[in-house]
Amino acid sequence: MYSDLTSNPRIRPVEAAHIGDLIRIAEETNLSPWTAQNYLDEIKNPSAIMLRLVGEDNTTMGFVVGRTVIGGDIETQLDAEIYNIAIDITQQGNGYGQILLTGFVKICSARQVQKIWLEVRESNRKAISFYEKNGFTTVQTRNNFYSDPREAALLMRLVLAPAQE
Ligand SMILES: CC(C)(COP(=O)(O)OP(=O)(O)OC[C@H]1O[C@@H](n2cnc3c(N)ncnc32)[C@H](O)[C@@H]1OP(=O)(O)O)[C@@H](O)C(=O)NCCC(=O)NCCS
Repeated sequence: MYSDLTSNPRIRPVEAAHIGDLIRIAEETNLSPWTAQNYLDEIKNPSAIMLRLVGEDNTTMGFVVGRTVIGGDIETQLDAEIYNIAIDITQQGNGYGQILLTGFVKICSARQVQKIWLEVRESNRKAISFYEKNGFTTVQTRNNFYSDPREAALLMRLVLAPAQE
C-alpha cells in the first residue's frame, strides 16, 4: 500500500473516518475549503492520491490530496495535480510537510507521472519556498484566481521525467 511505496509507515491512506480531521486542518491553515462530500468523492476516485501523516497515536498531523490526470495532448502521458497539502498548525516547520510531499512524489514516480502541477497564492511565501526547495518552478501567474481575498495564483510545476517525443 502507500507505506510500501513511500517506505514510511507514518504515511497512511485517507479514509472516510479522517475527513473531519482534514476539514479542521484545512480551516486552520486557510486552505481552499473542500466539503466532506468533496473528500468522500475523492476517496472513491481511482486516480486520487490522498495521504495522511500520522503521529505515534495515529492522530492526523497533516495530509495531501492530489490526483493523476492525463497530461498534455498525449493520452498515454500521465501528470498529477496537488489540490491541498497542509500540516496541523501546531506542527509546522518540523519536517512533516517534507515527508508528505516526498511520499506524494514517490507515488507519482511509481505511477510513471511526468509532471506534478499545483496552484498557490502568490502571498504564500512559506509554501512557495517549500515547493521551490522540492524542485517546483513557477510557470505562470494566474491573476484573480482566488477569492476571499482576491489574489493571483502561481502555477508551479515539478518535472519528474522528460516528455516522450
Ligand atoms: C506549506 C506546508 C505544507 C509545509 O510543511 P511544513 O511541515 O511546515 O514544512 P517542513 O518543516 O517540512 O519544511 C520543508 C521545507 O519547506 C520550507 N519552509 C518550511 N517552512 C518555511 C518558512 N516558514 N519559511 C520559508 N520556508 C519554509 C523550507 O525549505 C523547508 O526546508 P528546510 O527546513 O530544510 O529549510 C505547511 O507549512 C502548511 O501546512 N502551510 C499551510 C497550508 C498551505 O499553505 N499549504 C499550501 C497550499 S498551496
